[in-house]
Amino acid sequence: RKILEEMQIMMMMVLLLCSIIFITILYFQKQTTQKKSKTPASPPRFPLIGNLHQLGHHPHRSLCYLIHHYGPLMLLHFGRVPVLVVSSAVVARDVLKTHDLVFASRPRSKIYEKLLYDGRDVALAPYGEYWRQMKSVCVLHLLSNKMVRSFRDVREEEISLMMEKIRESGSSPMNLSKLLANLTNDVICRVALGKKYSGETDFKKLIERFTRLMGAFSVGTYVPWLAWIDWIRGLDGQLEKTGNDLDEFFERVVQDHVDGDGDRNDFVDVLLAIQRDKSVGFDIDRLSIKAIILDIFVAGSDTSYTLMEWAMTELLRHPECLNRLQEEVRTICKGKSSVSQEDVQDMNYLKAVIKEALRLHPPLPLMVPHESTQDVILRDYHIPAGTQVMINVWAIGREAATWGPDVEEFRPERHLDSSVDFRGQDFELIPFGAGRRICPAISFAAVLNEVVLANLVHRFDWRFPVESREDQTGVAESTGLAIHRMFPLYAIASSIT
Ligand code: HEM
Repeated sequence: RKILEEMQIMMMMVLLLCSIIFITILYFQKQTTQKKSKTPASPPRFPLIGNLHQLGHHPHRSLCYLIHHYGPLMLLHFGRVPVLVVSSAVVARDVLKTHDLVFASRPRSKIYEKLLYDGRDVALAPYGEYWRQMKSVCVLHLLSNKMVRSFRDVREEEISLMMEKIRESGSSPMNLSKLLANLTNDVICRVALGKKYSGETDFKKLIERFTRLMGAFSVGTYVPWLAWIDWIRGLDGQLEKTGNDLDEFFERVVQDHVDGDGDRNDFVDVLLAIQRDKSVGFDIDRLSIKAIILDIFVAGSDTSYTLMEWAMTELLRHPECLNRLQEEVRTICKGKSSVSQEDVQDMNYLKAVIKEALRLHPPLPLMVPHESTQDVILRDYHIPAGTQVMINVWAIGREAATWGPDVEEFRPERHLDSSVDFRGQDFELIPFGAGRRICPAISFAAVLNEVVLANLVHRFDWRFPVESREDQTGVAESTGLAIHRMFPLYAIASSIT
């Protein structure tokens, strides 16, 4: 028995020794591979949290500041997750064009899983057949030029209601931010869901909860063994409840369409028709319909209103630009009571104003994160599969080499003699992204923004209220995914008739 015990101890010692040797070999192998493969420059990081402490309230600004030390291609670590940060047009081209296929996926996150049907939507679905099919439905059936034109009546009705409200405000300061947010919300709701929900307080509160949670930080996503912190601080519970409430709301909307007369032509109707007729060559189920509609709603309203809010802010801060825009719009629309989709075609200064607002204030300054699906060599650096990528569009819009020394100035004139456009071909201006994951709604957003802005300046002169404080006329930014003004924009409109 003693011999048996001694043998057992010996065996354990041998096993322990083997494990130590094995771990040591692995460690040295890893060190050598790391030394052999070049990785992009990285700021020093803390154990566990990595570089998370360097993000601050406005990550696009903090990351832009780091370029001075580490260049336009940096490798950071958010907890255990490697994150590549791209801050120049040249590197963005390499990621979104040369290696587009490798970087076309999206990272997983607890927040997206709970709120966006676990990646069954378009915007956050991992790259693959499902995403390809859903995106083609969006591009060909929901957001095509033909559909954009067909929503003309909705747009015009909502704009004219907004103009009426402005007229009624007389010479008192009005909350233009709120007005623009309601307008985009109403247009998207009517186009996507068939009716407006802005009068429903519960719906408004639900969307507020949703937006807040989309901008929340989940510790467990980056440091899995600290996931319990999310539970203790109530994030898990809130995600569960909001996800369920949203699903209940969208289930009701889809069921109303199934039970209704079906003579509307909103996105839910189009998707139900595709499901019924199997006209796209693949099955689309109820969950996918709800996920796409939620996507359109979320991706569409916050971004468009943010752009209009920034454009109006800059025009109010630069009366000479506002005057030039008014001159263009009033000349082209002389004698007309409103500006139409056709009228804006020839408004070059209006288009320049929108480009300049997108350059200085891209609504999604870090776009939507991408993720690599294979190992790849990017600019001589070895980037392993599973690396997240953040494209800092905000920093790209401020590259002095492209835009000149006055990058911080709002100067729409810089776009007048330039062919640079935001449709994904010119990497110096990519507020809608580029490559496979590009925003499918560029035409939808462009028409809406152009027609709204043109109408606002056509019938009214605008100024800041005299008593405005610096924070009200300034460009302080909110926190979150879409960056809008920190404080609502108040302005006084005087009717020109
Ligand atoms: C000014 C307005 C808008 C801006 C600046 C904007 C910007 C963006 C950006 C930066 C992306 C990510 C691109 C990438 O990852 O490479 C995106 C994706 C997307 N956007 Fe937009 N967007 C706007 C309006 C809209 C509207 C109105 C809709 C729908 C009606 C929409 C629907 C989507 C969808 C579905 C995606 C996901 C595409 C994918 O992952 O394949 N967007 N958008």
